Amino acid sequence: MTTRIMFVCLGNICRSPTAHGVFETLANRAGVDVYVESAGTGAWHLGDPPDARAQQEAAARGYDLSGNRGQQVTGADFARFDLIIAMDHSNLIALERLRPIESETPVQLFLDFTQSSHTEVPDPYYEGGFELVFELIEEASRGLLDQLQKASAVAPNSL
Ligand code: 4NP
Repeated sequence: MTTRIMFVCLGNICRSPTAHGVFETLANRAGVDVYVESAGTGAWHLGDPPDARAQQEAAARGYDLSGNRGQQVTGADFARFDLIIAMDHSNLIALERLRPIESETPVQLFLDFTQSSHTEVPDPYYEGGFELVFELIEEASRGLLDQLQKASAVAPNSL
């Protein structure tokens, strides 16, 4: 069964497209059946490709983010996905405000899937730090994938 996952950050041009590209690539390599999208809580970059700095960092590590185009998360996405993953606490709060009253779709912080001392993937848009962003996203992607693989070994239809 396909697990449908949406990654969310603020602008959908740095962190969430990176999470989308890295997680999808690792899942495909591992033969884990996922459908992945990413979105921003803000609307400044609708239709935009990922930030050149994110694309460069990804390309240096063998990932291609070039196909992503910015979109904004909506309440309807809660019914389209099994799991919504936020890059930081403010994304998490914005998502909980969008949640339709009837929705029980889990929303989790991405770094909950790591042992990292960081709790958030830091916003690199103004301050930089794309290398750390990438390292955290790779670790969290492995952790999430591991969890999906363990869950499917126990109960095929659970997360
Ligand atoms: P992201 O980074 O949330 O990781 O995509 C940002 C991109 C753009 C803006 C803020 C954060 N912005 O204010 O335009």
